[in-house]
Amino acid sequence: MRKRINKIHVYDDLQSLSEAAAEQFVRIGNQVLQERDRFAVALSGGSTPKRLFQLLTKPPYRDKLDWSKVVFLWGDERPVPPDHPDSNYRMACEALLEPLGIKSEQICRIPAELENPESVTQEYQACVEKLLGKDSSGETPILDLVLLGMGNDGHTASLFPATSALLETKQWFVSNVVVKLETTRYTMTPMALNRARNIFFLVSGSDKSLALHAVLEGPIDTQKYPAQLIRPANGSVNWFVDQDAASKLTAQS
Ligand code: 6PG
Repeated sequence: MRKRINKIHVYDDLQSLSEAAAEQFVRIGNQVLQERDRFAVALSGGSTPKRLFQLLTKPPYRDKLDWSKVVFLWGDERPVPPDHPDSNYRMACEALLEPLGIKSEQICRIPAELENPESVTQEYQACVEKLLGKDSSGETPILDLVLLGMGNDGHTASLFPATSALLETKQWFVSNVVVKLETTRYTMTPMALNRARNIFFLVSGSDKSLALHAVLEGPIDTQKYPAQLIRPANGSVNWFVDQDAASKLTAQS
């Protein structure tokens, strides 16, 4: 079992955790752009990252990175059109991509509005492989940074407890039936997420405190707490959490 390599950073509130994440986002981006001509980021959904996105579109962060060299993907999406209030793409567009003037050729959107799940996964995989290329082993693309949230049930991306995507070892992006939500979601799989060079979890709010303690300090039970599956072989995992979410943690690094 790989040892846990989580670095946990606790902040007073969502604003300060978002500022810290923004600082690290541009630091890593500049580090990557010193070595390669592109910074590949997978965005998370939900509501927590919105503050981070808004911060990145304003000084000082906006002026600290060459945004024309950043390419944007999503770790997961709901089965809705891009203009739907629940769309992860829509939230990121409004809070981040449009204000930064990001061009469509820098983006791979998950076409989750398509009726046929096969078409969604094939189209997205094709877009990402075109944008990032396949690496020498022909494997899934290696992302420079993956942003993740965590639900109060310990899910991350759309890797929900006891769903089939948790066990997927061949595909890096799949449709995933989530019975408890009575829906099919689309998500990167653990193998894809664990190939990332850097992973940020952003977790805020007391409603996440029990799950955060279970994920970080409880016994390993990845079917019950899928966020425990995120253990990159050659990457770092930084948790940006606020004190409400961290209130049940015993050790904080
Ligand atoms: C989604 C997300 C999901 C999210 C968590 C936390 O599409 O819902 O990708 O994994 O990050 O559910 O959501 P909040 O930030 O809204 O609490």
